[in-house]
Amino acid sequence: MKFDVVFSPLGLTPGEVQGRTVFVIDILRAGTVMCAALAHGARAVLPVADTEEALRLSQTLDRDDVLLAGERNCVRIPGFALGNSPIEMTEAAVRGKTLILTTTNGTRALLATQGAQSVFVACAANLTLAGARARAAWEGDHDLLVLCAGREQRFALDDAYCAGRLIAAAIGGKRRVRGLNDSAAACLDLVRRYGDRWERPLASSQSGQDLIALGLRDDVRDSGRADAYPVLPAFQERRVTIAGERAP
Ligand code: MLT
Repeated sequence: MKFDVVFSPLGLTPGEVQGRTVFVIDILRAGTVMCAALAHGARAVLPVADTEEALRLSQTLDRDDVLLAGERNCVRIPGFALGNSPIEMTEAAVRGKTLILTTTNGTRALLATQGAQSVFVACAANLTLAGARARAAWEGDHDLLVLCAGREQRFALDDAYCAGRLIAAAIGGKRRVRGLNDSAAACLDLVRRYGDRWERPLASSQSGQDLIALGLRDDVRDSGRADAYPVLPAFQERRVTIAGERAP
């Protein structure tokens, strides 16, 4: 049984994903955005690689039902209805809508999971639910992969700390278990370093610093609110919906 973490989708091979239960983490901010949108009544989130694909896809869907969302360099894409802020995903904005979302790292990580047995999104905002699902998979002898979106295809402290929290929840407080790769063990060490408060690893990470410099400190705070958006997003057939629910 394997419980691996990778710190970015760069170099991920099909063999590392094939048949596994995968948790994708982009806590700042795409993963938190998906939880916020679904918790507030969005029907689905469709992750796409780039702006062109988002526009193309939107033309094939009913205009009244669809919202374009996403960022480049943390800023809303010109002409899109929404950016990539969990705070924007209010019920008034998203209820009944399908979001087409493109972000620098998070949506790309999701799109790298082809071949997985199942794919979920984990962050602080749904950690209890995600941790329970990871625990069930681990106890059910499934191989797990935690895929961090990372930053610019590299390690990101915020995602790695979140991965540690997810693993800690899955293995139920044990210090170590057989089957963790070195990255997973290092993520657990981060949890020992930072404890159970989300603020410090999020705000001191490079991604957090970039957002704060842009005046988006509230997004960093919101992304660290434990179980604030208690839904478990599942990615299947190119759509992210609440696990167990299928959007029409
Ligand atoms: C991403 O997917 O790269 C992030 O969510 C970036 C951001 O915070 O906007």
